[in-house]
Amino acid sequence: MKNSKPSKQRLDQLLTSLGYASRSESKKLISSGLVTVDGKCITKPDFKAFHHDVAFGGEPLDVCEGIVILMNKPLGVVCSHDDGEGKLVYSLLPLRWQKRDPKISTIGRLDKETSGLLLLTDDGQLLHRLTSPKYHIPKLYEVTLDRPLNGNETDIFAAGTLMLNGEKSPCLPAKLIIIDDTHVTLEITEGRYHQVRRMFAAVGNHVTALHRSRIGDLTLGDLMSGEYRLLERKNFPELL
Ligand code: URA
Repeated sequence: MKNSKPSKQRLDQLLTSLGYASRSESKKLISSGLVTVDGKCITKPDFKAFHHDVAFGGEPLDVCEGIVILMNKPLGVVCSHDDGEGKLVYSLLPLRWQKRDPKISTIGRLDKETSGLLLLTDDGQLLHRLTSPKYHIPKLYEVTLDRPLNGNETDIFAAGTLMLNGEKSPCLPAKLIIIDDTHVTLEITEGRYHQVRRMFAAVGNHVTALHRSRIGDLTLGDLMSGEYRLLERKNFPELL
């Protein structure tokens, strides 16, 4: 359970919050003898136990509340809970995770047509902290441009004076590394709406492909598009 001390929970509550079944279904599953605590079959739904002592159908329970997922988001999927917007990133997760309560949400968003490193969590406090405007962790983007660079973009982005349409304050300094005249990496420490695309629009260019490859020290490693892995928070104390 997040970073706090684990506490005992009712078995029916545990199964429901982890997405195994509705509250009434969970009671039935427990009564039918599918749940063990410390290896002993328990059929009382209101029995209280620690998450790590409980098994369902002989298998340990799914990871408890406080889950953090690192996904390689594919192009064409949407960071939203509204399925009117297209295929959702959550549809790439196991069905049970999609039914958890508290629900899993993306930490910030990537546009539908942006791929790469995306974090997801069910921890509201973590989500709030990492998406706060006060939080300035570097995020690295690989950018393909429609037109060759002018040559002055590195200085403009580094100056911390670039104003985006409709914004009240300039973008914080950002680091541009030129690979060739239509391929760059850009490191930013903010998360404004469509920020990378708007920064290039502000210098008269257009982004044709965008991929996020790093947040802080987190990278995709060998995750293929659409794949994800669980993060051990203790390995990233400075971030998570
Ligand atoms: N900047 C953008 O323009 N889009 C993203 O998805 C992320 C950063």
